[in-house]
Amino acid sequence: MADLMDKITSLAKRRGFIYPGSEIYGGLANTYDYGPLGVELLRNIKNAWWDFFVSQRPEIYGLDTNILMSPKVWEASGHTTSFSDVVVDCKSCKIRTRADHLIEDHFHNKGEEKKVEGATTDELNQIIAFEKIPCPNCGNFDWTKLRKFNLLFATHIGILEDAKSLVYLRGEIAQGMFVNFKNVVNSLSPKLPFGLAQSGVAFRNEITLGKLTFRTLQFNLSEFEYFFDPQVTPWEDLFRQWKQQMWQWTTKILGLNESNLRWRLHTDEERSHYSIRTEDIEYKYPWGFKELYGLAYRTDFDLKNHMNKSGIDLRYTDQISGKKFIPHVIEPSFGMDRSLIAVMFDGYREEGEKNKSRVWLSISPHLAPYKVAVFPLLANKADLVTKARNIFETLQPILSCSWDDRGNIGKRYYAQDEIGTPWCVTVDFETLENETVTVRDRDTTKQERVAIAQLADYFEKKLK
Ligand code: GAP
Repeated sequence: MADLMDKITSLAKRRGFIYPGSEIYGGLANTYDYGPLGVELLRNIKNAWWDFFVSQRPEIYGLDTNILMSPKVWEASGHTTSFSDVVVDCKSCKIRTRADHLIEDHFHNKGEEKKVEGATTDELNQIIAFEKIPCPNCGNFDWTKLRKFNLLFATHIGILEDAKSLVYLRGEIAQGMFVNFKNVVNSLSPKLPFGLAQSGVAFRNEITLGKLTFRTLQFNLSEFEYFFDPQVTPWEDLFRQWKQQMWQWTTKILGLNESNLRWRLHTDEERSHYSIRTEDIEYKYPWGFKELYGLAYRTDFDLKNHMNKSGIDLRYTDQISGKKFIPHVIEPSFGMDRSLIAVMFDGYREEGEKNKSRVWLSISPHLAPYKVAVFPLLANKADLVTKARNIFETLQPILSCSWDDRGNIGKRYYAQDEIGTPWCVTVDFETLENETVTVRDRDTTKQERVAIAQLADYFEKKLK
């Protein structure tokens, strides 16, 4: 399966989905850039998410809050003290690694699955010593003591590097929703339950080398806080409801294969400091089942702490009874970069012999970077090119289209298959006689003739 990882990494770079960050300077670990195809795929996933969880739900409102916030936000939320990993350094080669990942990888290599995320420093120490786990980089067994390493990125505002100018790049986007809770209640007077959603980047000082964009320093997150009155609605009901909706999104909208997905309940030790129940949807990446999304019951932890720290009353007033209380929160959280690579792994197909093999990305047409590619059968026949160009220019404003007149038609089909374009339209000599084109399907490679005048309707129906 490591093979699939290599294939997707190579395809992602070669075809313009994902590039290693700062590559011409030798790269910057755990950073990636999206290329022309990747940015379309990412945008389609983010838009589909927004449509499914925000636009289609009248009680969920969007926000777009700042990356930089008062450092007091992160003190109140517990991130300055509790948002850390246990790390260990190799004294020989100086590489730093997360102790839990070191142990889990060690057992994985022995063919055993072991979860130790959230274990205490002492427990991790004991396992490393008992197993005599060597450094994955140099092979020596010469570790420093384990210590906690905070994940928040610190930076400074202005020219003075003093404690007063210290700020953090947001470690999660959720806090923007909590600190604006009162603003939204004042602006819209929403009735409980209601949600605040946003999509944006978050930053974490991750030290474990990620696999593609699985674990990066900067990543795209989409999540919402669903506020409710726990005396009116049992949290278990909402948890179940959002669990079901998350599954719906993952299998129906993102289109991931159910057999590559599972739910996993967090243990008490690994659960984040703010949650009393967390369940993850895990995806079967080529390196095993790992977190794709999380669902947490954050109780009133965040609003309560912000109210205490800021001194501002963040209670909600029930519009009928006048009761004042701090609402509780259920939080479904979705990594968009992890979604994107999951879509690529899940959709990867190949058939045929080496050098002659056909590779295609069987991804949902809604998410595909291009919906349609348009070609003239031969690039040196002016009337075919003109006709094809007209079709391209008519479809382009309605659907995202690709134009290709290089090489032979077979190569063009294969090139579109590899980037997941669901349909290819070819203008051939018959087109000049009867105003029809061939439409080829990416997954079946079957072709059918469609009248040019019907093309826009034909694709609209397919995309419904
Ligand atoms: N507000 C809750 C929260 O941030 P999280 O489980 O820490 O929860 C949410 O992160 C999601 O963000 C994860 O389920 C995962 O998909 C994604 N994620 C977390 N850390 C990431 C990283 N370093 N790189 C890429 N994606 C990451």
